[in-house]
Amino acid sequence: MWIEGYKPIELLLILTIATFIYIGINYVLQKIGKRIPAFPQALLIWLGAWSIFKYVLTPPIPSALLYTYMGLVTLVIFLFISSTEKGWSEFKRPILNTVMAVTPVYKSVRSVSFVVLPLLIGYGTYDFNVPKFDEPIELRTVHPAPPASTTVRGQNFTLQTARNPYRVDDKGEYLPVGKEDKYFKQNPFAPDAKGYLLYVKEGGSIFFQNCHFCHGDNLNGRGMFAFAFNPIPANFSDPGTIAQLQETFVFWRIAKGGPGLPREGFPWASAMPPWEEHLTTDEIWKVNMFEYWHTEFFPRTWD
Ligand code: HEC
Repeated sequence: MWIEGYKPIELLLILTIATFIYIGINYVLQKIGKRIPAFPQALLIWLGAWSIFKYVLTPPIPSALLYTYMGLVTLVIFLFISSTEKGWSEFKRPILNTVMAVTPVYKSVRSVSFVVLPLLIGYGTYDFNVPKFDEPIELRTVHPAPPASTTVRGQNFTLQTARNPYRVDDKGEYLPVGKEDKYFKQNPFAPDAKGYLLYVKEGGSIFFQNCHFCHGDNLNGRGMFAFAFNPIPANFSDPGTIAQLQETFVFWRIAKGGPGLPREGFPWASAMPPWEEHLTTDEIWKVNMFEYWHTEFFPRTWD
């Protein structure tokens, strides 16, 4: 039932009701000539308060608050018990009896609380902390299998047959590996650069506007933001990245980025942006050429 404005005084109300129930029970017990001894009584009140804070209150209170409340409850119980000499000695009697094991029953209680309980707690702690499953054998597939084809900016590319339009000869065939070699020692940023090198230069401008923050000025994966990421940006100067790959694979990776990785590329989310949202397909092909030119690698071909 919802009562307007009830929530702020909920705790007060619940504790008042609990107190009245407690007084009522004690009154009835007194009438029939019985009473709960001080120690179990203190324990019951403590557990009762804990259950109210833990299970009755909604929404649940943060554990830091729960511990604060329970600290206060413990303090109040001790103050109350120790307020009279009689109450205090009644409270500590079962404790002393247990420690000194005055009867066989107390002796077994002592064994349980000083041997069995610590062992159980020790085992519980061990069991809680010990890893329950093996770590994965392979953490992450760095070069996952690419899709057969991919659509970038409305254009479909079949990865097996697509070509970098800036890297083919007049007949549309890939230049033979090594044929571009003479260019690698030349500077595309020189004023008289022409042909192939002009595309490399355009790719270089794109790289230094978009990619070097992560992949680094030297294409070695050590850009200024690189170390914020896990996995770290690819090091193109290492033979393990673009040197191993077909140019269409690299094209697909640049276009789709981390979000476009298939499941085997996880569990870690890659920070590589999907560049199709910012670059045209031509720009992606050109930045590709710059990466290969700068590292002096050749893209792998299908044969
Ligand atoms: C925000 C940082 C960031 C920026 C900016 C960025 N990359 Fe990446 N890139 C990454 C990370 C991290 C990886 C490694 C994880 C992965 O493979 O997705 C990566 C991987 C790659 C790969 C895959 C290499 C391989 O071996 O599979 C290519 C290619 C690539 N980036 C190209 C580019 C290009 C081109 C640009 C600029 C247009 C660029 N990146 C900009 C973070 C970035």
